[in-house]
Amino acid sequence: MNSLIKFSSTILLYLLTLSVITQAQSLNNPIYIKHICDSTTSTSTTTYKDNLNLLLSSLASNATRNSIGFFNASEGREPDDVYGLFFCRGDLSTDVCQNCVAFATKDIVQRCPTQMAALIWYDECFLRYSNKIMFSIMERDPDYTLMNTQSLPVHADFNRILVDTIGTAVYQAVNMPAGAKKFAATKANYTMQDMLYVLVQCTPDLSSDDCHQCLLSAYSGLQVCCNEKRGGRILYPSCIVRFEMYLDYNETYVEEAAALAPSPVPQGDKGSKQKKVDYNRCNSIYNCRSPTVQFFRLHHVEKEEKRIRL
Ligand SMILES: *[C@@H]1O[C@H](CO)[C@@H](O)[C@H](O)[C@H]1NC(C)=O
Ligand SMILES: *[C@@H]1O[C@H](CO)[C@@H](O)[C@H](O)[C@H]1NC(C)=O
Ligand SMILES: *[C@@H]1O[C@H](CO)[C@@H](O)[C@H](O)[C@H]1NC(C)=O
Ligand SMILES: *[C@@H]1O[C@H](CO)[C@@H](O)[C@H](O)[C@H]1NC(C)=O
Repeated sequence: MNSLIKFSSTILLYLLTLSVITQAQSLNNPIYIKHICDSTTSTSTTTYKDNLNLLLSSLASNATRNSIGFFNASEGREPDDVYGLFFCRGDLSTDVCQNCVAFATKDIVQRCPTQMAALIWYDECFLRYSNKIMFSIMERDPDYTLMNTQSLPVHADFNRILVDTIGTAVYQAVNMPAGAKKFAATKANYTMQDMLYVLVQCTPDLSSDDCHQCLLSAYSGLQVCCNEKRGGRILYPSCIVRFEMYLDYNETYVEEAAALAPSPVPQGDKGSKQKKVDYNRCNSIYNCRSPTVQFFRLHHVEKEEKRIRL
């Protein structure tokens, strides 16, 4: 009896701790993924730095009342003009978004103190600035790949299910009305035990065509890096595609959004119109056999270092 009470209070304590930790995580520390400082731009003037600081505070303040989780801004005049944007994962609340962006604006200048251009991905948001105009321009460079190191005993159906599930998500995101989030999350039964969860998103300043292009490239990248894996993610400055065998997005949001505005039913299965893919195409560009850094359940897979243009 006594031990039972002890036991249940331990569980309760554990649950309380867990919920405090979960809340603290989403509201204090976004989950860092990767940052890149553009080392080609290391001569910034004090005027540029002042403009950058203004820009970052404008991004942070505009994240508070931003329903689409995206904002772009610019500060200053040539030659010290600076441009920047953030975008948040479409399934997260404004609070989580705002918190992530606020964190990012401080984090990025510490990680890239001297460069004129930089970008940073977290699980919750993405932030980027540069001395070049970036609004409405589709950008796939630099990219970043994460691969779930667990293998999947693949039966032939998996690739079909993956193609269909990603295809449906891509179709939904691309066909969002102008001014809405270009975001979609889909799921499918793989086996009795395993569900497949897919999340795709473009920055909403892209045209539908550019969004489509971006997502298809990311999807091709996934086929190269993460074939026969239990998960993978491709991150570009302009879009994201990811799949996992565990629920890693906010299903409440996705269900509410679906109830409010039923997505159009894919016609003619757009997602399956992929080129035939060679699933074992690992090469020097997609260095998918030698993951380097541990990232909770995932491994980073880095492309060859190449000159980046932000
Ligand atoms: C939002 O961005 C605009 C334009 O960059 C800026 O003028 C404004 O101060 C920012 N903050 C808020 C709270 O609107
Ligand atoms: C982004 O920047 C462009 C060009 O400066 C501007 O026309 C547009 O209004 C901005 N969009 C947002 C959402 O701030
Ligand atoms: C998940 O979505 C629901 C519904 O939109 C929202 O109330 C909740 O805050 C979201 N959770 C997070 C962590 O953003
Ligand atoms: C998965 O299978 C269960 C049980 O057969 C079914 O109720 C559910 O709707 C399926 N989910 C999806 C996303 O197809």
